[in-house]
Amino acid sequence: MGRKFFVGGNWKCNGTTEEVKKIVNKLNEGEVPSQDVVEVVISPPFVFLPLVKDLLRPNFHVAAQNCWVKKGGAFTGEVSAEMLSNLGVPWVILGHSERRQLLGESNEFVGDKVAYALSQGLKVIACVGETLEQREAGSTVDVVSAQTKAIAERVSSWADIVIAYEPVWAIGTGKVATPAQAQEVHSELRKWLSANTSPEVASTTRIIYGGSVTAANCKELAAKPDVDGFLVGGASLKPEFIDIIKSAEVKRSA
Ligand code: PGA
Repeated sequence: MGRKFFVGGNWKCNGTTEEVKKIVNKLNEGEVPSQDVVEVVISPPFVFLPLVKDLLRPNFHVAAQNCWVKKGGAFTGEVSAEMLSNLGVPWVILGHSERRQLLGESNEFVGDKVAYALSQGLKVIACVGETLEQREAGSTVDVVSAQTKAIAERVSSWADIVIAYEPVWAIGTGKVATPAQAQEVHSELRKWLSANTSPEVASTTRIIYGGSVTAANCKELAAKPDVDGFLVGGASLKPEFIDIIKSAEVKRSA
């Protein structure tokens, strides 16, 4: 299948300069599988991107947590895709549920951002996921399909997109999806991609899981065939993030 395991660390709105340096030192000391086995991307807040990029081991890369939807200019407080490219930041997380929920980012707006970021040479971790109410109403697959569709309608290639399935009810709650729940949605997303983009896109696009991933639960999740890695929040600030990166080995021995 050839989908390289992918582990992203989403630091969200956390950290001081001192803390950032400490975390990066820990990451640099960690023993992890080679770059052929796992791709690791760390996403600090914007202001720490240059520092982290400079200090981080060369086999790990950085991501921004957001970027503006179009060319920069008179948009106070925003950071443009051009700026990220200019800084040599290769990745950006878009459509995180904290932005969809708290800041009202619509599916269309996220789709526009993904398309614009790609046009500027960035690679995108595109987040999708349902709320608890939506899951309980049985609309999980409809919700994540609509979120994915808004992206698919706006991009011509999926080569630089990783989909992060992050159920909203699992984010920062300690309530991780069961491996079976994650596998089910990942498999549905892959089916959706196959039917609506192409079988090739479906078989090559990485679909990673996010929501309360820890060193304790990552191996079981990683063992599922359609789970191609993780987007990790809280645990990415802790030494256990190294163990989560190591869960890539589960895939290799599978
Ligand atoms: P969490 O966050 O691991 O703290 O649940 C995941 C995310 O929001 O990407």
